[in-house]
Amino acid sequence: AEIAHAQGALVSIDSTFTPPPFFRPLELGVDLVVHSLTKYINGHGDSMGGVVIGSRELVSRIKSEALVDVGGTISPFNAWLIMRGSVTLPLRLRQHFGSAEKVAAFLEADPRVAYVYYPGLRSHPQHEVALRQFGGRGYGAMMAFAVEGDPDAQNRFVSNLKVITSAVSLGHDESLIVHVAGEARGGSEYYPELFQKYGHLRLSVGLEDPDDLIADLSAALDATFGAN
Ligand SMILES: Cc1ncc(COP(=O)(O)O)c(C=O)c1O
Repeated sequence: AEIAHAQGALVSIDSTFTPPPFFRPLELGVDLVVHSLTKYINGHGDSMGGVVIGSRELVSRIKSEALVDVGGTISPFNAWLIMRGSVTLPLRLRQHFGSAEKVAAFLEADPRVAYVYYPGLRSHPQHEVALRQFGGRGYGAMMAFAVEGDPDAQNRFVSNLKVITSAVSLGHDESLIVHVAGEARGGSEYYPELFQKYGHLRLSVGLEDPDDLIADLSAALDATFGAN
């Protein structure tokens, strides 16, 4: 933020993966924070919305210009669902994060898993940054990993899962997984080399019992590779 401000630029971040009260970017000097309310803040995968948070002056500029040009009036029912869901956000995050740490540790220890990227793991290149910025409150519940093998192996593994749902989106009560192929998205050339080689499975760890999630991942690994 200091570097941007010195050049007269504003800093905005999409903090959807890292919601409050876990991460508070405005306190780090960020000017505008964007969230998809569809994800953790609603938490139940049943309504869509978005929010921009910042100073009154910046937000009123966005309101007057973007609301007219882009639209953005949320339906009252969606707004009500999101407000209702948001009340339990801190409690849900505790469960999401605790489970994610267990799931990441399980995956990292299995030799059939090619790699795991989760900021809570010491092996993550930015583990120290995550510890500093998140203040030890957790490391989120999003991770990327791949099983050994080609993209077909990733798809076979996903189709062997029974508790974790194969679907895009994240931050829901249910755990969601999606296979992102190596070259699928704009900007994927900036992905780590391992992502380019295997593609990656993006896992959003939900609110299920972590033992059930680990049992599901373990059974899917056995079904994909043959039991050890
Ligand atoms: C990080 C992030 N920000 C924003 C969005 C957009 O959210 P919405 O579908 O609520 O517009 C997504 C959707 O996947 C996302 O992953």
